Amino acid sequence: MNTNILVIGSGGREHALAWKLAKSAKVDHVYVAPGNSGTALEHKVSNIELTDITQLIQFAREKQILFTLVGPEAPLAEGIVDQFRNSGLKIWGPTKFCAQLESSKVFAKEFMLEHNIPTAKYSVFDNEPQALDYLGLQTLPIVIKADGLAAGKGVLVAQTIIEATDFIKDIFGQNKFGNAGSRVVIEEFLDGIEASFIVMIDENGNILPMASSQDHKRLLDDDKGPNTGGMGAYSPAPIVTDQIHQKVIDHVIRPVIDGMRNKGHAYSGFLYAGLMIDKNNQIKTLEFNCRFGDPETQPIMSRLENDLFDLIENGINGQLDKINAKWVDEFAIGVVLAAEGYPDAPRKNDIILGLDMIKNMPDIHVFHAGAKLDNKQVYTASGRVLCVIGMDKDLQIAQKKVYAAIKLITFKGMQYRTDIANTAKIYI
Ligand SMILES: Nc1ncnc2c1ncn2[C@@H]1O[C@H](COP(=O)(O)OP(=O)(O)O)[C@@H](O)[C@H]1O
Ligand SMILES: [Mg+2]
Repeated sequence: MNTNILVIGSGGREHALAWKLAKSAKVDHVYVAPGNSGTALEHKVSNIELTDITQLIQFAREKQILFTLVGPEAPLAEGIVDQFRNSGLKIWGPTKFCAQLESSKVFAKEFMLEHNIPTAKYSVFDNEPQALDYLGLQTLPIVIKADGLAAGKGVLVAQTIIEATDFIKDIFGQNKFGNAGSRVVIEEFLDGIEASFIVMIDENGNILPMASSQDHKRLLDDDKGPNTGGMGAYSPAPIVTDQIHQKVIDHVIRPVIDGMRNKGHAYSGFLYAGLMIDKNNQIKTLEFNCRFGDPETQPIMSRLENDLFDLIENGINGQLDKINAKWVDEFAIGVVLAAEGYPDAPRKNDIILGLDMIKNMPDIHVFHAGAKLDNKQVYTASGRVLCVIGMDKDLQIAQKKVYAAIKLITFKGMQYRTDIANTAKIYI
């Protein structure tokens, strides 16, 4: 019987996961729903035009899919894992209950408070007048977060009372985020350096840490401009020392596993803790994501030496203790090429040139995200278009390689940060 795998999603993360799964000798074919131009062009991979969960279940049955891997947060919040499992299908990801750690910031903050997980002090509001009254008593900067999923746009780090007030008014008065904004969290500003801490957790409570990484959330160099889905990431992140790693496992990850179990829900799937690390190496949890990060997946998968099929299969079977993850001992730097107008109103349908020129460049790899294939030509299709990876033992050389490759790619209005991985240099 053929071994068929299904990957849910259409971003750079899903291209990287499908690419890595397709490399496995144990995998015959990877279907990606709905996928992008990158997954369309990949050997042993094809796209299917489905997003509806019931139809995906039917597809998984027809193709005798061995297991399904979920990329993005929305289907997890919708309960795709519960529905697949109820249909007797194997799937990797947390249940709807556990996915609340990401789908509700209020749930996550209450969970952290209840289980002593270090995080910023906060208050929750469900109406504008009380939120504004409270705001008036706070010091700046201050952080305001819409409760629900907002595709990376639901958080404002406010430097002035005016922008904070406007954001709260947008949320309650203008209904900017719909239901996702029926409550807000207002929390203290934390100073420090961010890191992404991603692990696999199985239902027996085994933890398999992924390589450390760091995302770059702001649109522009030097962390200026608006927050985005992520403009680049690199791995490893030297700020995550062995000591910090252990602290996060003991004080963040383990309490999530135990806390969920106490609530009668075993967590299984990827778990991503967004961390703020201050100058005294104290850690606080900014948020949880219940899936792999995008763009962190791209550099991390570029460094994974193991067969990803083995990791996911052992994860689903509750046997992550049998796996030892090995990582290429090099820096992988991923730079996102975004469309003009991203994040507010990205341009679409522009032709992308130069991909052939960098195809066979050593230590360079391109993952597609908001890009589509039309008559064998690749076009832009949404905000974050491509993620180019450069690898080298030496951080600065990896940086030089990735930016040299990017020079060969063009599309109208292409924008990218020129300082991805600079934050790692202070540690080396
Ligand atoms: N308490 C905080 N102090 C300082 N910066 C914060 C704080 N909370 C969030 N941020 C910044 O805002 C970004 C987005 O917030 P986060 O909670 O990760 O929400 P989301 O990823 O859902 O947009 C973070 O990556 C971080 O840069
Ligand atoms: Mg985040």
